[in-house]
Amino acid sequence: MQRLWLNCHAATMAGGRYSIIEDAALVSRDGLIEWIGPRAQLPAGEYAESHDLDGAWLTPGLIDCHTHLVFGGDRSGEFEQRLEGASYAEIAAAGGGIASTVRATREASEGELLSGALQRARQLLSEGVTTLEVKSGYGLNLAAERKMLRVVRLLGEMLPLTVRSTCLAAHALPPEFAGRADAYIDQVCREILPELAGEGLVDAVDAFCEHLGFSPAQVERVFQTATALGLPVKLHAEQLSSLHGSSLAARYRALSADHLEYMDESDVIAMAAAGTVAVLLPGAFYLLRETRLPPIDALRRHGVAMAVASDLNPGTSPALSLRLMLNMACTAFRLTPEEALAGVTLHAARALGLHASHGSLEPGKVADFVAWQIQRPAELAYWLGGDLPKRVIRHGEEITHG
Ligand code: NIG
Ligand code: FE
Repeated sequence: MQRLWLNCHAATMAGGRYSIIEDAALVSRDGLIEWIGPRAQLPAGEYAESHDLDGAWLTPGLIDCHTHLVFGGDRSGEFEQRLEGASYAEIAAAGGGIASTVRATREASEGELLSGALQRARQLLSEGVTTLEVKSGYGLNLAAERKMLRVVRLLGEMLPLTVRSTCLAAHALPPEFAGRADAYIDQVCREILPELAGEGLVDAVDAFCEHLGFSPAQVERVFQTATALGLPVKLHAEQLSSLHGSSLAARYRALSADHLEYMDESDVIAMAAAGTVAVLLPGAFYLLRETRLPPIDALRRHGVAMAVASDLNPGTSPALSLRLMLNMACTAFRLTPEEALAGVTLHAARALGLHASHGSLEPGKVADFVAWQIQRPAELAYWLGGDLPKRVIRHGEEITHG
């Protein structure tokens, strides 16, 4: 089906950077963008359907490229503990933190995990998110990691969203392996990753490189296994301290390294050379009341693409709004609204390896876009959350109106 979309402006992100077309038109056909440009240059012809967008601003469908939205249990009590002065590391050392979500996730049925995950994914969807990444990492054994990743696949089948699944089996040490981190990494490499990859449940492999998580040497073994399985890698790196995980990620041509508050310039240079995307997660920065900023100027200077994501998870970032993350990326990290918007479209697509098909409005890419009833694109980062009037189009079909 061919459709013409008219009476709009577009922040296209074409050519790999923030770029706009005033008084634009877009033609979609069979789920793809067939043509986009200034309305005055629209090729003459008959279009099966024409949609008046009432002066809206088009952006690519938003992409949340880092979430942990499948989980069991509740950690709002830890939020209260932190407000009373406990640190994330202290709570983790006392058996809370990731370990508490692991217990609850192992106990939950697939149906229970699915219903919570659907609720959270719908919140993102209602904001104009059309592509979503979700990580495992609260199962930490074969059966529970499989259960999580099956739920991730179900989200993609049940919702009008493109969903990418990332296996984060190397997120934390499960209690049954206490004191035996290398033995757990053996299990991840010999059993968990090969099995789950063989079942088609894994699009990418992630790990948590941190004193609380795994050492660079352990992460490297996970990366070697992923590479042997033909899977791209990503890494939680430099969130709480500097272990040069982001340089390690770059050596393995990682799609992204994420968090990055404690990275140094040598890490930035390594990521620039490898084309690894820096995924900034202002929700976790905010909730942990972190004061050390990711080195935004160095990332800019060296030309590292910066994505922005929610990190939606029950511990450090219960963020149900990607647009709020745009505001926080600007206010806390000093991104410009244009950089932040490119961070949830263009660069987020690259962080998922989807840049050939997603992340910008260009002929041949999927027709995933949002028509926002706003005066200027900067408004997407300006409003603190809330529901902006918009129409969401995925694969050329309108999925919401309001
Ligand atoms: O991205 N850094 C590690 N993983 C998550 C937190 C997970 C949790 O606390 O449950 C993050 O911040
Ligand atoms: Fe995370």
